[in-house]
Amino acid sequence: MNVVNEKCEVIRNERVSSDGHVLVLNSRDISRQTLPGQFVEIGCYGEDMILRRPFSVFDVSNESLSLFIKIVGKGTKWLSELNSGSIVDLIGPLGNGFTVSSNSRSLLIGGGCGIASLNLLSRKLFDSNSNADTIFGFSKPEEIPQEIIEGFQKRSNGVLVTVDKGSYPIIGNVVDRLKEVDLENYDRFYCCGPTRMLKALDPFLYKREVEVSLEARMACGIGVCYGCTINTKQGSKRVCLDGPVFKMEEVEWNEM
Ligand code: FES
Repeated sequence: MNVVNEKCEVIRNERVSSDGHVLVLNSRDISRQTLPGQFVEIGCYGEDMILRRPFSVFDVSNESLSLFIKIVGKGTKWLSELNSGSIVDLIGPLGNGFTVSSNSRSLLIGGGCGIASLNLLSRKLFDSNSNADTIFGFSKPEEIPQEIIEGFQKRSNGVLVTVDKGSYPIIGNVVDRLKEVDLENYDRFYCCGPTRMLKALDPFLYKREVEVSLEARMACGIGVCYGCTINTKQGSKRVCLDGPVFKMEEVEWNEM
């Protein structure tokens, strides 16, 4: 697999929740190589910004690549305001990606932006005759990207959405929901979201077949600066190069 630098035109920039956008880019080189769980670095060149930012790939086709952008700062705000026809600079695909096993029964667990890499994974599992149920957690109801959730529901009847607070039928976090699930129904688990969420899941999923996609602050994104190093049971690893997907049992959660 080749990491390439591609100039991509914005095809669409759609608001999908109170703070979420899906940015659809024209791409042929990166899109055709990307595996679920991999990410790209995108250049953000607004005022006072010259950094690239890492984003999990939300979806791909032969001609396009989509990113889920949650507005959390200047760079993501700049991306959320890009118009169709704008050109952005992408490097990718980066990182390792999830293992997609056919004919499996999987449970996907995502929090917030974690929905990004789980979307492509869910599609690939569906194409591989695997059933993928899902638990999603959001902070509040207005952050739920309803159309995206409906996409997951088309691929599985077992999609559960929970929110920390607000007016919504199911209140609580993903750990609360996981406690209600019979884990024996699944042979694989995939988790993606904030580190504190992944850490909280560890005691419940420990020793099962679990892959986690880690979020980390990244500078270079290609293994050069060592800014994203974590401790694992096999020693130091770089999230951008050795991950972002790791086996849950391999991460030293006490040091995260
Ligand atoms: Fe530079 Fe990972 S971001 S080594």
